[in-house]
Amino acid sequence: MNADEKKRLAAQAALDFVVEDSILGIGTGSTVNHFIDLLAARKLRIRGAVSSSEASTERLRRHGIAVLDLNEIDDLPVYVDGADEADRDLRLIKGGGAALTREKIVAAVAQRFVCIADDSKLVEVLGRFPLPVEVIPMARAYVARELARLGGRAVWRTGTVTDNGNHVLDVHDLRIEDPVTLETQINQIAGVVTVGLFARRPADLLILAGDSGVTVLGQRD
Ligand code: A5P
Repeated sequence: MNADEKKRLAAQAALDFVVEDSILGIGTGSTVNHFIDLLAARKLRIRGAVSSSEASTERLRRHGIAVLDLNEIDDLPVYVDGADEADRDLRLIKGGGAALTREKIVAAVAQRFVCIADDSKLVEVLGRFPLPVEVIPMARAYVARELARLGGRAVWRTGTVTDNGNHVLDVHDLRIEDPVTLETQINQIAGVVTVGLFARRPADLLILAGDSGVTVLGQRD
């Protein structure tokens, strides 16, 4: 099975966790694209979606799924999103698709965060994937220097502007033994909008697809 087939398999398994007649949170990326397509094909009865990116919003609308403003919603039972890396405690690195800020907001609102990925994303220690950090453009160089003090080598993702009009730094050379502390430290740097570490609010379920099928980590109920 190639990586894309695994992503589709993980996406398919996540359909079981959709709560019908409610609003569904939708993330961003190639795995979530499979999920959106399968959700539309399965014709599950949802009241609409909140989306973490313009790209996902467009895809949802193409399928005729209503996209709602998060400010209009006070109850979001489930959020489905992918990840760039995950550890066994369901802490994640996200933001490879530059949607990390809206993803973190929707994850914060959701009661249950269902993460879907192919099994290559599972690591023992986070940090192999460069850690994305969304920054206010004028703070980019300053934030890069501060990240160097934390042991990381920040590289500006040139040509990328987030849906919020900001820049992204990708931080290399980190071995993230304590993701909660690092998330807090990076959050405190002036000019940082969001760090793509999801450790203070990890996933609740991690659906990993591999050659032998699907494995679910975390609390099913
Ligand atoms: C988007 O900003 C990311 O957080 C994605 O969730 C992550 O990059 C996973 O993407 P794929 O599903 O394309 O691997």
